[in-house]
Amino acid sequence: IHSLQAPSSLPSASFCILFIFLYLLTVLGITLFLQLQSQSPSQGQRISSPSDQQQLSPTDQGIWTVNSIGRLGNQMGEYATLYALAKMNGHQAYILPEMHQQLAPLFRITLPVLSSDVVQNIPWKDYELHDWMSEEYRHIEGKYVRLTGYPCSWTFYHHLRQEILQEFSFHDHVKEEANRYLAGLRGQRRNVTYVGVHIRRGDYVRVMPQVWKGVVADKAYLEKAMGYFRAKYQEPVFVVTSNGMEWCRENIDASRGDVYFSGDGEESSPGRDFALLAHCNHTIMTIGTFGIWAGYLAGGETVYLANYTLPDSPFLKIFKPEAAFLPEWIGINADLSPLQSETSG
Ligand SMILES: *[C@@H]1O[C@H](CO)[C@@H](O)[C@H](O)[C@H]1NC(C)=O
Ligand SMILES: *[C@@H]1O[C@H](CO)[C@@H](O)[C@H](O)[C@H]1NC(C)=O
Ligand SMILES: *[C@@H]1O[C@H](CO)[C@@H](O)[C@H](O)[C@H]1NC(C)=O
Repeated sequence: IHSLQAPSSLPSASFCILFIFLYLLTVLGITLFLQLQSQSPSQGQRISSPSDQQQLSPTDQGIWTVNSIGRLGNQMGEYATLYALAKMNGHQAYILPEMHQQLAPLFRITLPVLSSDVVQNIPWKDYELHDWMSEEYRHIEGKYVRLTGYPCSWTFYHHLRQEILQEFSFHDHVKEEANRYLAGLRGQRRNVTYVGVHIRRGDYVRVMPQVWKGVVADKAYLEKAMGYFRAKYQEPVFVVTSNGMEWCRENIDASRGDVYFSGDGEESSPGRDFALLAHCNHTIMTIGTFGIWAGYLAGGETVYLANYTLPDSPFLKIFKPEAAFLPEWIGINADLSPLQSETSG
């Protein structure tokens, strides 16, 4: 710092030192820069930056990705939507490292993963999606597109159902653990039918009435939904998971001996609960993408809570029930009276 302020009458030795110092600084800077540019592809299928022109082949299909937001159900919806829309538009899909971290421990997903330095260097074009398929999504322009939002609707990807189910096939150890647990519930039953029950509580208990003019599933809904399966199948077994297990124990009648409170309620590691639901034959869901995916993967009959907001709810601007629930799924109307008494009282 001294030498930078030195007068021009300095002896030549000082000039020399200053010159060498600046030279070393420049070399150091260039080295650092080059190192950052050529991050070695350390993890599996990671790829290099598109700004690295030699790496681009003439048939390069660009890089499409999707934001990685929300928890398991949202992440699955984002993944499946990216998978389908990239394919439809003829581009190669890649996922963000955060998404890989959430999905890869459970599923045998195959989309390649971007490294975070590549993510930062790409001139992304963000493209916001609403949660149902639209004609314009067949013609999204751009080579480096990042889809944004919370897409989950089957209308994006149901035509690729087999591929999506393949992407979300569980690792062997997860599958084996779920099957072992379910086999343990069988007891003396000869012809058991497993019904996975997912009861979304947690933040929704507050958010649904306060933000969305809606309700969450109540005791009566669960009785009706379970009644449907008890009437139809000889020996149903209900495998209950929830992020509010205590409420479930207090509000679900288990006196017939066919209800098992199986969930561990671990919101931070939902993999075990999710695998249990997906390995059941049928599904009772309440609300939320976790239950929707459990029903989609289980592939049997799915009973869902229908019409759980007031008609003027802002929720219906971002959520289309017909795009969220498959046409063959069975809706049971929610009881909205708690909301009505709230607004009139
Ligand atoms: C097993 O149960 C299903 C319905 O729950 C029924 O359709 C089927 O006939 C039963 N099979 C036997 C062998 O009892
Ligand atoms: C029901 O689920 C169990 C556990 O995954 C499975 O072993 C069984 O084959 C399924 N039954 C039917 C009829 O799909
Ligand atoms: C939900 O409400 C709509 C509109 O009133 C109605 O058409 C639909 O049948 C209802 N859903 C169920 C499961 O009853």
